[in-house]
Amino acid sequence: MPETISIAIDGPAAAGKSTVAKKVAHELTYIYVDTGAMYRALTFKAIKDKVDLSSEEEVHKVLMNCDIQFEQSKDGQLVYVNEEEVTKDIRTQEVTNHVSAVSSYPSVRKEMVNRQQKMIHGRNVVMDGRDIGTKVIPDADLKIFMVASVEERARRRHEENVRSGYPSDIEELKEDIKRRDDIDSNRQASPLVKAKDGVEIDTTDMSIEDVVKVIMDLAKEKGGQ
Ligand code: DC
Repeated sequence: MPETISIAIDGPAAAGKSTVAKKVAHELTYIYVDTGAMYRALTFKAIKDKVDLSSEEEVHKVLMNCDIQFEQSKDGQLVYVNEEEVTKDIRTQEVTNHVSAVSSYPSVRKEMVNRQQKMIHGRNVVMDGRDIGTKVIPDADLKIFMVASVEERARRRHEENVRSGYPSDIEELKEDIKRRDDIDSNRQASPLVKAKDGVEIDTTDMSIEDVVKVIMDLAKEKGGQ
């Protein structure tokens, strides 16, 4: 049996990766790392510092002075930037609008991948993002590529917004998801692609519990317990 087990979950925006990844990590008592939150934290800090987001150099400079940490709490995972708690701030529409551009910069990705690899060294982990199975943990024990139709992803995000009391327009959500899919899949540095040895799961007609079960069964086959 391998010493540590790592599960990589990749896929497009709003495919339900983080919900499923958190549950799988909880069942296996592995750590969970939301790499999208790291790109969002940087985007938040760059906006706050009024940095020119179209300048890769400026954005990279912000990252080099930006300590991003996660902390587990009874209410879930908290995100900190230079010791300031930003868990909610990184989910605003403004951050969402700019995060794909910020995460397309090769120098930013290189530094993020480095940090992510250090963070999980020697630990059992479930990590989600866009390039986990291809770049961050290319030798992951299990690689999942989660997809769902644009309509279903927009519908799920809409329900989530309504539940949380946020204003929400399903047509706008659809356009936003398409725009992010396009940027994430067509960028030069580590575009969103399924790893060669990745297992694709189309969750369009599946419940969260069903997806978790499929991944748990696959994880057990790989020695996860
Ligand atoms: O999963 P999310 O929506 O919170 O991710 C935010 C953005 O970060 C998304 O548009 C793509 C980018 N991202 C990335 O490029 N690589 C990752 N490993 C994770 C996220």
